[in-house]
Amino acid sequence: FPVENIRNFSIIAHVDHGKSTLADRLLELTGAIAKTDRNKQVLDKLQVERERGITVKAQTASLFYTHQGQTYLLNLIDTPGHVDFSYEVSRSISACQGVLLIVDANQGIQAQTVANFYLAFEAHLSIIPIVNKIDLKNADPEGVETQIEKVFEIPKEDCIRISAKLGTNVERVLEEIVNRIPPPKAKTDDPFKALVFDSTFDHYRGVVASIAVFGGQVRKGDRIMSAHLGKVYEVNELGILRPDEHPTDRLLAGQVGYMIAGMKEVKEAQIGDTLFLQKHPVEPLPGFKPAKAMVFAGMYPTDQSEYNSLRSAVERLTLNDSSVTVQRDSSHALGAGWRLGFLGLLHMEVFNQRLEQEYNASVIVTTPTVPYKAILSSAKLIKEYGEKEITIINPAQFPDRSVVSEYLEPMVLGTIITPDEYIGKIMTLCQNHRAIQKNMLYIDDKRVMMKYLFPLNEVIVDFYDHLKSLSSGYGSFDYEEAGYQPADLIKMDILLNGKPVEELITVVHKDKAYSAGKALCERLKDCIPRQLFEIAVQAAIGSKIIARETIKAYRKNVLAKCYGGDITRKMKLLKKQAEGKKKMRMIGNVEVPRDAFINVLKRK
Ligand code: GTP
Repeated sequence: FPVENIRNFSIIAHVDHGKSTLADRLLELTGAIAKTDRNKQVLDKLQVERERGITVKAQTASLFYTHQGQTYLLNLIDTPGHVDFSYEVSRSISACQGVLLIVDANQGIQAQTVANFYLAFEAHLSIIPIVNKIDLKNADPEGVETQIEKVFEIPKEDCIRISAKLGTNVERVLEEIVNRIPPPKAKTDDPFKALVFDSTFDHYRGVVASIAVFGGQVRKGDRIMSAHLGKVYEVNELGILRPDEHPTDRLLAGQVGYMIAGMKEVKEAQIGDTLFLQKHPVEPLPGFKPAKAMVFAGMYPTDQSEYNSLRSAVERLTLNDSSVTVQRDSSHALGAGWRLGFLGLLHMEVFNQRLEQEYNASVIVTTPTVPYKAILSSAKLIKEYGEKEITIINPAQFPDRSVVSEYLEPMVLGTIITPDEYIGKIMTLCQNHRAIQKNMLYIDDKRVMMKYLFPLNEVIVDFYDHLKSLSSGYGSFDYEEAGYQPADLIKMDILLNGKPVEELITVVHKDKAYSAGKALCERLKDCIPRQLFEIAVQAAIGSKIIARETIKAYRKNVLAKCYGGDITRKMKLLKKQAEGKKKMRMIGNVEVPRDAFINVLKRK
């Protein structure tokens, strides 16, 4: 395929602005999939994606498009929109020369529109702004185009108005991809050079790597090498994705496709790595920033006898998601398990959900924490750790003030976009989350964009939910890393009848210890059912109790409801109660539902 007729592009947008729907239409228009009513988010393959209606993993599809007598190969790389997965956006972008930047004609520019725009802009890609959902009653394409001009300095006239749902004007999008996005600058007669931009694991075939060929060509049977590990592999299978795999004999400069080469672990096809021919080594491509875990949590089998099956489930799942970091961990109360690192809380929830749905695993998850740092002052400890500055990803191991000269916490720069009527409430919310305002800009006559510096731990759990509800759903939020700052931190324990709950050990800012302790106790009280005896729920700093709630005793007589003697009904109820017990975790003599701790974190 001549390189001049290839276009590699990505679709980027805020969540729900219509990426997957537009992708479906493009696939239909180019005949990659048949046009039926059932084509809904064809590229969202995972069960969690379909259930939650979000895209988690980027997918690729090659489309053939004929325009004015010429046939073009358009390689579409769909990307997720949620903040936790922006890592996937930047890796997709690195394989492209252009992007379609979708903005909802009703909602306008949102926080992730801004974040995604800058990813594409800084990578010097051609940006085609698309105003979607013009069929909606309240659509305001004119207003949204004004925002695009103001915030991104892209002339209004460059915007394409479409309805991805109805297919209106989508043909024009295809034309503009050909006209405005340049072909890749790759030469077929150069030595072979390809970027690995994604990799998945398949039980039968090993690692399936998604590659973008930046130069030369690769054929079946070629011996290739990876720049990162320097290992040699033989190419067993090559092909393009339409979006299903279509094997081909070779992949040429400018093309995007998949490759199977006997790699047994996803680590061998590291994202951002360069592949080349063993006999023709090349300078590696610049690659890109590796994914960085922002949220850590412990994960343990509900029942230790399930440790091995859970281990294999975790291993298989992380084979497919190299952005999760895994360390073995063990605790007195919870037994053997792992400490996992995620890109964000949604990423963590999605991971748990996949463990439960795809591997039928039942797990205990501890309170998520951000990676704190401590500068040690104790010579003995410095010797033990081998360095002065340590990173703490497990609150249970948070070092005491007496051996530390300073604690540091990770910071993020947050972008909030909201209608101006909510500014006051949002400012208060940000202050309550220890944030410092950096600037504020009107993006049109009624919407503002605000920048705040936040401690990461203040935004990971529920900040976004609060922002959404304060702004009747109109506020949007995104953030990027912004280094570390000193902070006054302490470790807080939660006790049930005097026994510490390991899952709930948290590191909190000193000024927030009382309110955080009180809130945790109150919420925990609501999540634990009454039992035959009274239960004290307490928050403690060291040996000092700072908050307390009491769960009153209650005799739960499940049979009382069955007047008369329907024995089968009685049996059923008893069985149900026994099953319920399996979902419990014992802390001292207190039975705690397995999902109580997760529910505690998801405060209203
Ligand atoms: P994520 O993958 O989660 O980032 O979302 P997305 O951007 O892929 O959005 P998706 O295509 O899933 O669309 C979100 C919702 O908007 C769905 O309910 C679509 O049916 C709807 N939608 C998409 N395009 C249009 C449109 O042109 N008009 C209308 N009325 N609804 C649309």
